[in-house]
Amino acid sequence: MKTPLLELRNFTVLRSGKKVVKNFNLLLEEGEKAVLAGPNGVGKTSLAEAVLGFLPFEGELLYRGRPVRTKEDFKLLRRKVGFVFQNPDDQLFMPTVREELAFAPANFGLSPAEVNRRVEAAAALLGLEELLDEPTFSLSFGQRRLVSIACVLTAEPELLILDEPTNGLDRENWLRVARFLNETEKTVLVITHDRDLVTFLGWRVVLLSGTPLASSWRTEIPDPYQCD
Ligand SMILES: Nc1ncnc2c1ncn2[C@@H]1O[C@H](COP(=O)(O)OP(=O)(O)OP(=O)(O)O)[C@@H](O)[C@H]1O
Ligand SMILES: [Mg+2]
Repeated sequence: MKTPLLELRNFTVLRSGKKVVKNFNLLLEEGEKAVLAGPNGVGKTSLAEAVLGFLPFEGELLYRGRPVRTKEDFKLLRRKVGFVFQNPDDQLFMPTVREELAFAPANFGLSPAEVNRRVEAAAALLGLEELLDEPTFSLSFGQRRLVSIACVLTAEPELLILDEPTNGLDRENWLRVARFLNETEKTVLVITHDRDLVTFLGWRVVLLSGTPLASSWRTEIPDPYQCD
């Protein structure tokens, strides 16, 4: 059997000592794409934050079959797993869009030419070419959302976890993001309440539910996300 890219076993996430996600199980194969759904406050964002090492957890997190536990393990994991925050303002911190997009690849020590290639490619993909030299915080919410996706793409992660990536986007930009998600060959986990997106993608939906029995991965599309 192939080793999954990401595996969560009895994954319990703690926030200030409180268990906000309990005994969640997930298997994500390399190249697989899935949606993580569930009601407000059920712990989807907390789950993603724990996978990235921002919140403590109990249980097991395995990446390519290897347990991820120490600070050093998470540092390595964050080079391979890109996380687009639910709120772009939690993600963006550089003065201009160009610097924001260049931050990760420049930090990896890549050549200026390679950094520039990645910046231009991500900007073109998300229609940000005209905004590259704008101050990040002068942009609209939808524009900041696109920048927050682009600056994760320039790191060229193997696994992309996006938390509500279509929030606040107009139709044109919604389509840009939805098409990108469908076309990319990366492994992707999208957290979303956007029914149109779930229908458009047609991926496996993993339901995170407050009840312990349902708090595990499923292969069927749950009722509220059923295509009309
Ligand atoms: N910054 C925080 N400090 C303390 N508790 C928090 C914080 N963020 C979330 N929580 C709590 O953790 C629990 C899970 O919240 P989380 O944001 O992970 O849910 P979610 O499923 O992502 O919700 P939504 O669909 O609204 O984004 C909730 O009970 C919430 O009150
Ligand atoms: Mg959330």
